[in-house]
Amino acid sequence: MRHSFLFLLAIIVFSGNILAQGNDIDKSIDSLMRLMTLEEKVGQLHQITSDFAATGPITKDGEKQDRVRQGRVGSYLNVTGADRTRSLQEIAMQSRLKIPLLFAQDVIHGFRTIFPLPLAEAASWDLGAIELSARIAAKEAAAAGIHWTFAPMVDISRDPRWGRVMEGAGEDTYLGSQIARARVKGFQGKAIGDTDAVMACAKHFIAYGAAEGGRDYNTTDMSWRRLYEVYLPPFKAAMEAGVASFMNSFNDINGIPATGNSYLLRKLLKGDWGFPGIVVSDWGSVGEMVNHGYAADLKDAAKKALIAGCDMDMESRAYTAHLEDLAGKGEVSMQMLDDAVRRILKKKFELGLFQDPYRFSNAAREKSIWNEQSHLEAARDIAKKSIVLLKNDAPGKGKNPLLPLSNYANKKIALIGPLVKAIGDNNGFWSYSWPDDSIRVVSLWRGMVEYLGSANQLRYAKGCEITGTDTSGFAYARKMAAQSDIVILSIGESAVMSGEAKSRSNIHLPGMQEQLVKEMVATGKPVVVLISAGRPLVFNWIADNVPAIVYTWWLGTEAGHAICDVLFGKYNPSGKLPMTFPRTEGQIPIYYNHFSTGRPFKNDNDNNYVTAYKDLPNSPKYPFGYGLSFTQFAYGKIRLNADSINPDQQLRVTIPVTNTGSYSGEEVVQLYLQDITASLVRPVRELKAFRKIKLSPGETKEVEFILTANDFSFYQEDLSFKAESGKFNLFIGGSSAATEKATFFLR
Ligand code: GLC
Repeated sequence: MRHSFLFLLAIIVFSGNILAQGNDIDKSIDSLMRLMTLEEKVGQLHQITSDFAATGPITKDGEKQDRVRQGRVGSYLNVTGADRTRSLQEIAMQSRLKIPLLFAQDVIHGFRTIFPLPLAEAASWDLGAIELSARIAAKEAAAAGIHWTFAPMVDISRDPRWGRVMEGAGEDTYLGSQIARARVKGFQGKAIGDTDAVMACAKHFIAYGAAEGGRDYNTTDMSWRRLYEVYLPPFKAAMEAGVASFMNSFNDINGIPATGNSYLLRKLLKGDWGFPGIVVSDWGSVGEMVNHGYAADLKDAAKKALIAGCDMDMESRAYTAHLEDLAGKGEVSMQMLDDAVRRILKKKFELGLFQDPYRFSNAAREKSIWNEQSHLEAARDIAKKSIVLLKNDAPGKGKNPLLPLSNYANKKIALIGPLVKAIGDNNGFWSYSWPDDSIRVVSLWRGMVEYLGSANQLRYAKGCEITGTDTSGFAYARKMAAQSDIVILSIGESAVMSGEAKSRSNIHLPGMQEQLVKEMVATGKPVVVLISAGRPLVFNWIADNVPAIVYTWWLGTEAGHAICDVLFGKYNPSGKLPMTFPRTEGQIPIYYNHFSTGRPFKNDNDNNYVTAYKDLPNSPKYPFGYGLSFTQFAYGKIRLNADSINPDQQLRVTIPVTNTGSYSGEEVVQLYLQDITASLVRPVRELKAFRKIKLSPGETKEVEFILTANDFSFYQEDLSFKAESGKFNLFIGGSSAATEKATFFLR
C-alpha cells in the first residue's frame, strides 16, 4: 500500500513539474528514473515498427502491444494518424509509470502534401523555399500524431549509382550544409514541443553516401581528413541548428560499423560537439554488426552499440534481449545506459508528452490541415524552382529557342512517353500514397489539359514502357507526332528506381526510351524532352540531338502544374544541378571540387599523359551548379576591397550581374574559391557562397559577398581547421565552370 502511494506521489510531483523547462526537466527525469526498473529503462531504448508499414526487414515477435503495456517499448515507427497514435498511446498509459511513446516516421519530403525529392529541392538553391517545404511537412506530420521525423538526410554523395542520392542535397559540402540547416529549422520550427513541429534527425552518420561503387550499404573507407572536410560539415550544421537526433548509418567506416563507432558517436558527436540529443540506430543496424563481423552475436552487438553511444535500437531487438543481462553483469555501465535513457526521456518531456501524451494526436487539427491549399501552392512553387533547364536551342534551322512554348499554345501538341500520365510516380521514393492520389497528384497530362483548357490540342502515345525491349508502341507514337506541330516526351526512371537499396550499375535511360526519342526526332517535328529521375542519368544522344531538355526529377503532388508553368513560360526556370552529370558510368566518381593532380588535363580532349580517359572527353556532361534560363545573364568584372588581407580581415567581393535577355529571371550567382598552393593539395575550386537573385530584362545588380578566414580555412593533417597565407583565386558565375576570376593574397 505504502509503495503504491509513493508511486502516486512521485508521479503527481514530477508531472506537476512538466510544465517547467530546462533543469526542472532534469529534476523530473531524476525523479522518474529513480522509480524505473532496469527492464523499464531498457524498454526506453527499444524502437519497433508498426505492422502498418515497414521500411526494412521485419522480425515478428509476438504481441507488441503487451510490450508497450509492460513499459518495454520507448518508440514506434510507421504509426501515423491522430487516431492510431492515440490508441497506441492509450496502451502506453496502462504501463506502470505511464511513460509515453515517441512516434517516428520518415517524413522526408512532405507528408500529406508531397514536395519534390530532396535532391530536386536542392536544385532550387532556394533556402527559404526548402525551409518552408520542411515546415509544411512538419505541420502535416505533427497533426497526424508524429513526434519525430527521420530527416533531413544530409549525406554528401558523389556517386549517382547510389540510389539514395535522391534523398540528399547532392555532392557539395557547402550547399549541403546550408540545406541541412534550412531543413532542420523547417522541421523543428520555433521549438520542439510546438504541436506544429517535429523532432528532426540528421542522418546517416556517417559517410553512407561514400559507399564503394555506389552500392548501397557498402564499405566506406577514407582519411579522417576527407571525412572532416567533405562529409561531416552538413552534420555539424544540423547540430548547430539544434537538431534533436542523429541516426547512425549502416556502413562500416574505416573498419568499424558506424553503429558501434565510439570515436564518431561518443568521442566526436557527444564529446567534442557536446550533442545532447538522441542517437538512434538505423533499421536493424545494431544487430547487423554480426553480419559485419564486428560483433560475435546479438548480445555482443548490443554491448558494442551502447558503449559506442547508440542510444536507441531500431528494430534489431538486441537491446531489449540483452541489455538487462549486460548491465546486471556490469558488462555495460549503468552510467552509459542511464545516459541513453535520459536523452530519450528528455525529448519526451520537451515534447510535453508527460503533461499530455495525446497532445499531437488531435483528429480535428489533422482534419483541418489535410487539404490546406497554401500547402499545395508552396509545393508548386518549389517544384517549379527545382526544375533544371539543360538545353534550349532553336529547332532545325529556326532562330528562336524552342521554349517557352508560347508559340505553340494554340497548336497540336503530341505528349509521348511512359511518364506522361504517371501519377503516383511523381511522389518519388520516401513518400506517401493517399486514397485520393488519383485526383490529387497532378500528372503532366493533367497539367497540360488544365493549362490548355481541354485535351483538344493534345495527342497522346505511351510509346514504350520505362523498361523492357518492346517497341510495338512506336508506330502509334509516330502517328500521333505526325498529327502534331511539336512533340513533348516525358521519359526517365520510375520513382522506385532510385531510393534505398536502389543502386544501379547502369544509369543510362532504361528500356527503349532513347530509341523512342530518336523516332520522334526522325519525324522532323520540334522535340522537347522532359526527364524524370531521382538521380543524374546518362542520355548523351538526347543531349546532343534534341533542342530542348528539361530535368523534372520527381516533383510531388503539384508536378504537372509546375512543369507546365515552366513549359509555357509562366515561370522562368532557375534550377541549378546539385550533382555533376557524368557522360557515362565509367567517369564516376566525377565531381567539380576535385584536386588538380600532377598532370591535369588542359582541355576537354587532352588525354596524352594526363589524368584522363582515352575514350571520352574529360568534362562531365553537365557540371555541378549548371542550369539555363529563358533569359541570359552577363557577369561583369569582380571587384575586391583589397588585393591582400590579414586573416582577421574580411574580403568584400562584388560583381555586377545583368539580365541581357528578354525575360525576367532568377540566377544563382555562385562564388568558388581556389587555394592555389597550400600544405595539402586543395580542390581546383570549392563553392563558398551563393546568392539567388531576380533580374528584370536589362537590369543589373551588384552582388556582394563577404569572405572571412573561415572561408579560406581547411582541415590540416592534425584535423585542426585553419587558413594558410598565400595566393587565392576567386571564380564567380552561374555554374562551377564559372570563368570570371580574381586573385587575392591572404597575408
Ligand atoms: C531505413 C533507412 C533510414 C530510415 C529507417 C526507418 O532503412 O535507412 O533512412 O529512416 O530505415 O525507416
